[in-house]
Amino acid sequence: MEHEITLVVNGTARRARVPARRLLSDCLRHDLGLTGTHVGCEHGVCGCCTVLLDGRPVRSCLTFAVTVDGAEITTVEGLAGPGGELSAVQRAFAECHGLQCGFCTPGFLCTVTALLRENPAPTDDEVVEGISGNLCRCTGYQNIVKAVHRAAELLAEES
Ligand code: FES
Ligand code: FES
Repeated sequence: MEHEITLVVNGTARRARVPARRLLSDCLRHDLGLTGTHVGCEHGVCGCCTVLLDGRPVRSCLTFAVTVDGAEITTVEGLAGPGGELSAVQRAFAECHGLQCGFCTPGFLCTVTALLRENPAPTDDEVVEGISGNLCRCTGYQNIVKAVHRAAELLAEES
C-alpha cells in the first residue's frame, strides 16, 4: 500500500506516493530527484544523509518518509541562495578545503548550518562535538573544523 505525502522541500511543496517503509533519503533521491543527499552506511552511523527537518538535522536514512508528511525539509540543494550564490557555510568549506572527495559534504553542510544557527560562535570543542555524528574518510577533520570557524566569521560579517 502506498501513501500520498506532501513535503515542503527547499521551500517548494512536493508530493510523493510512497510505501510505508520508504526511507526519507530514498524519497528525496529517487522520488524527488534530489540526489545531493548522499547515502553511505544506511544505518545511522556516517551522517552523509543528514538533512534539516523543520530546521533540525536528522539522518534521512533513519526516517520514514510517511512520518514527516507536512514537514519542511532542507537538503544541500536548498542551502544556496535563490540566485545560486553559495551560503556562508558552503563558501567556508570551499575556502578552507573542508572537502576532498565530497561524499560526506552534503551531510556536513547541513549539520554545520544547523549548528551555527544554534551556536553562532562555537569553541573548538563545540565544533568537534557538533560534527561528531558526521564521518569523513578523507580530510582528517582539521580543515572541516577550520571551515566551521570561518563560516561563523562569514555569518557574523553578514549579520
Ligand atoms: S547513510 Fe544515513 S547515517 Fe549513513
Ligand atoms: S571528503 Fe571524502 S569522505 Fe569526506
